[in-house]
Amino acid sequence: MQCNVYLQKGSDAYAKLAPNPRIHMHSYIRAPLFCLILLASLGIAAGARAAETLDVLHWWTSQSERKAADAIAEALADEDVTWRDAAIAGGAGVGAMKVLKSRVLSGRAPDVAQLIGPNIQEWADLGLLLELDGVARKNNWNTAFFPSIWSLVRLRSHTAAVPLGIHRINTLFYNRRVFNELGLTPPKNWNDFERVANRLQHAGITPLAQSSEAWQVTTLFETLLLSESNPAFYRQLFMSNSDRAWFDPRVSRALERLRSLKRWMGEPVTEKSWDSIARQFAHGEIGMWVMGDWAKGELQTMGMNVDDQFSCLPVPGTADYHLYSVDTFVMLVGDYDHEIAQEKLARLATSPAMQIHYNQIKGSVSVRRDADPRQMDSCARSSWQTFGRGAQVQAPSLTHRMASNEQLKDAISAQIHRYFLDDTIAISETQRRIAALVRALANRKAEP
Ligand code: BGC
Repeated sequence: MQCNVYLQKGSDAYAKLAPNPRIHMHSYIRAPLFCLILLASLGIAAGARAAETLDVLHWWTSQSERKAADAIAEALADEDVTWRDAAIAGGAGVGAMKVLKSRVLSGRAPDVAQLIGPNIQEWADLGLLLELDGVARKNNWNTAFFPSIWSLVRLRSHTAAVPLGIHRINTLFYNRRVFNELGLTPPKNWNDFERVANRLQHAGITPLAQSSEAWQVTTLFETLLLSESNPAFYRQLFMSNSDRAWFDPRVSRALERLRSLKRWMGEPVTEKSWDSIARQFAHGEIGMWVMGDWAKGELQTMGMNVDDQFSCLPVPGTADYHLYSVDTFVMLVGDYDHEIAQEKLARLATSPAMQIHYNQIKGSVSVRRDADPRQMDSCARSSWQTFGRGAQVQAPSLTHRMASNEQLKDAISAQIHRYFLDDTIAISETQRRIAALVRALANRKAEP
């Protein structure tokens, strides 16, 4: 058993406990049960003041994710609310969503959870989520947020979620030191990409990083699909349950490119966590990497700076588009006894100052239209400004839960993954399989 006690930096309790080698100091103190006894013996009431506690379930466990979560937790502690961490490891929330569902079903719902995309509406419909109408009204969320962010958190004239940051998925990272040493120019189109990849390979550097984890494969696939098409087609494919769209030549071309890029990924493509790829990238073992810009946060936490050691570009063919996912927190109603603390978290996390601070660490960009682009690095500025052009350039990520329900996402992802791993599966066979799944899950006959 553990007790997590949040102590304000500078407080008596913090000063007395900080030098104790048996207590692991983070921005908060998390220690075994003896910390309570210790606190008592030091004559300090836990938390120094009667702090309220919020149990927060999320999947941020890499260094930068942890640091970004801590930034919010620290601000919350200043308002006497303790963030009790219930982090579940696994990139893209693969494990966390399962844990969240099982906790809710067994009556042990957290107070706050990371829940993304259309899931918000489904959970709100079930009456599980606290309405945050008061916070939203007082803080003018309707005008402060980008319109698509505002509509994402709204359900039938109520506010159901707290948006934290916008991630751009169609991001190509390149290692500036490696590029400079080899005299390479960052690729703007696929022909350039092939030329650069070839040079990197000859120099003994893996041209393109990739893990065989299903979500990382689908993250690349959805980016390639956008590169072959546009946001309108992307939405038709992933959001309208159109089985016919899966036979479109743009899908075949994206699948073809997914397979052909394998030759630049190093042999064999193995299952690696995204943050371990970030470490390889930082060590100069990799030239390029297509990943959501949470990777920027991780590279920064490892001491690399944007436009110094690395830079980012939109993936070829997607410069005008924004393939996005929005991190959102929902507040679970429970028996309404944490409402005030939950509202504090909602207000703090979306305040102009926290939006800058948190997103700078996390690698995402502010959900606010009044953010100052001069305070952003070049990756963030390009992301924020492109997103700001509106819905016609925005493509909601399938893999990161913005486009469809879990079931359809998992079904499509499993087929793309299979196709990626097994070169004997024909492109047309994958298209046929996915179209059949879409038909079955949408529960209707084939389109004429
Ligand atoms: C989330 C990010 C997270 C990433 C890797 C995405 O689905 O939106 O916040 O950093 O997964 O775990």
